[in-house]
Amino acid sequence: MTTVRQWLQQTSDLPLIECELLLGEVMVLSRAQILAYPDRAIPANALQQLQPTIEQLRAGQPFAYITGEREFWGLNFRVTADVLIPRPETELLVELVVELAPQGGNVVDLGTGSGAIAIAVKSERPDLAVTAVDKSGAALKIARHNACRLKADIAFHQQSWLQGSNAVWDIVVSNPPYIAERDPHLAALRAEPRLALVAGTDGLDAIRQIIPAASKQMHQNGYLLIEHGFDQAESVQQLMSVAGLANVHSRKDLAGINRVTLAQYAGR
Ligand SMILES: C[S@@+](CC[C@H](N)C(=O)[O-])C[C@H]1O[C@@H](n2cnc3c(N)ncnc32)[C@H](O)[C@@H]1O
Repeated sequence: MTTVRQWLQQTSDLPLIECELLLGEVMVLSRAQILAYPDRAIPANALQQLQPTIEQLRAGQPFAYITGEREFWGLNFRVTADVLIPRPETELLVELVVELAPQGGNVVDLGTGSGAIAIAVKSERPDLAVTAVDKSGAALKIARHNACRLKADIAFHQQSWLQGSNAVWDIVVSNPPYIAERDPHLAALRAEPRLALVAGTDGLDAIRQIIPAASKQMHQNGYLLIEHGFDQAESVQQLMSVAGLANVHSRKDLAGINRVTLAQYAGR
């Protein structure tokens, strides 16, 4: 017989909360019920059911890809290995867009992945016309699915950043790939799509394409907001200033790291 307590000890090399949630799922109990009775015996068939999932976690498969979902901005998103798992720090971009977008304005989310930013923005600000683009057709399929199940009216396009479109925007928002090709952190991110993560030798290739393109397609006083790596704020600020944007500044995430840099198009 294996009790809840014993099983959680056996899996103590893995994140506790993930093990508790998995156990709850196979035993059809809430996490609170699991925690309340640590001496409850786990039925043999439940142990058997858990085994392959535990092996996947030990092999480095992210929990969100195993369960097929991740919460972002209080909404439940479907995620597969075709999309980046939305990160909590990206909620800062949503917060800023919700605050800065003019009533009835238009917004484009560049590199939408699961659709997290676009859908979260639309859920808070239904007055906005939201468009989302991605180069990956497989990612767009997931984003469309999420928009449909979360009832968000969003226009999706498969394209590279703003290429091939001459629309003009009040808000251009992006969480682009920003990791350098040889960054050692990539080893821990093997399961996520490379297209969503890597941007050239210094991690700034995508941002270097987005800033000049966006600054030619913004309404007067429109905003460009870009998420970036913990050490990239200065470079992104410089790229925005060179592109002629005004009010260039960065905002910190909850960990106190400059995570988003934004600027305004002041007109010609
Ligand atoms: C860091 S992920 C962000 C996903 C999502 N916006 C989020 O915050 O969770 C970057 C996204 O950019 C997309 N991407 C990469 N290169 C692109 C390009 N040239 N044009 C459009 N999208 C691109 C990737 O497919 C990926 O979905």
